[in-house]
Amino acid sequence: MSAVLLDGKKLAQTMQGEIAATAAVFTQKHGIRPGLAAVLVGDNPASRIYVRNKRKACQQAGFESWLHELPHECTQAKLLDLIRRLNQDPTVHGILVQLPLPPQIDEKAIIQAVSPLKDVDAFGSENLGLLAAGHPRYLPCTPHGVQQLLLRNGVQLEGAHVVIVGRSAIVGKPLALILMQKAAGANATVTVCHSRSRNLADLTRQADVVVVAIGLAEFLKADMVRPGAVVVDVGINRLPDGKLVGDVDFAAVRGVASAITPVPGGVGPMTITMLLHNTLSAAQLQTMKS
Ligand SMILES: NC(=O)c1ccc[n+]([C@@H]2O[C@H](COP(=O)([O-])OP(=O)(O)OC[C@H]3O[C@@H](n4cnc5c(N)ncnc54)[C@H](OP(=O)(O)O)[C@@H]3O)[C@@H](O)[C@H]2O)c1
Repeated sequence: MSAVLLDGKKLAQTMQGEIAATAAVFTQKHGIRPGLAAVLVGDNPASRIYVRNKRKACQQAGFESWLHELPHECTQAKLLDLIRRLNQDPTVHGILVQLPLPPQIDEKAIIQAVSPLKDVDAFGSENLGLLAAGHPRYLPCTPHGVQQLLLRNGVQLEGAHVVIVGRSAIVGKPLALILMQKAAGANATVTVCHSRSRNLADLTRQADVVVVAIGLAEFLKADMVRPGAVVVDVGINRLPDGKLVGDVDFAAVRGVASAITPVPGGVGPMTITMLLHNTLSAAQLQTMKS
């Protein structure tokens, strides 16, 4: 068997076109363009590429986009001051603080400082709490992208057993909350595994859908997957030779799975798409409130 490719790049293009069309109607009606302010601290090359790609997608969708760059040695007080100003700026609907931040800055304090209505990454406690309570405002972008990639490719989540490997606050944990929601497009039975899980392969082999988000190159092997299962690879790892690979041994697992996401071109483009989705929602919400 050779698995069907779940093409995130193609779906992202389609969905970004849909978002651009909705944004154009919104702009025509209200005279306001959805606006995303990106904050980049320091000169991490990967962060710079992520921010550039996010801004490019914003511009293509007809959004306003601003980049605020601060030096690596920037103090927490300076960054908090910038966030306070962005929180108060009515033209800014979404604020994206690119992580990781330099060690002198407390990431949690920064995440909490972003106004919950402008927290388009949905990393803050209010938005995560709303999701956990079952009435979300914004969904975190990467897990929401995973859900959309599965649904739009006709993967049945209702009643399916989804095994998630990784429990981070930005991927594994919110993905579990999204997929276990009592809602259309969810209603999955979810198992969350992590570095302390015993007999991991026994757990992943029970899955209809396996999602791996751990940051270990080519970790998930073919014998950890039930034949016919769907496999989603969130990982992004650079090998010593410069090649980009995921957390799944793609060449081996594609021979067992029924469908699989590539790296690159799978989950990554969907993350950006859901950021645009949240920024448009933020603009709509803030316009209704004003
Ligand atoms: N495509 C995208 O848009 C996107 C977005 C975000 C992240 N990513 C990528 O996704 C990967 C994960 O990111 P993250 O931020 O979620 O990572 P993270 O915060 O480092 O969390 C890693 C998780 O993996 C678990 N883990 C580590 N080793 C394991 C093992 N041997 N067996 C089982 N579980 C193990 C950890 O368990 P413990 O909790 O027990 O430590 C932890 O829960 C990274 O490669 C990252 O670059 C991609």
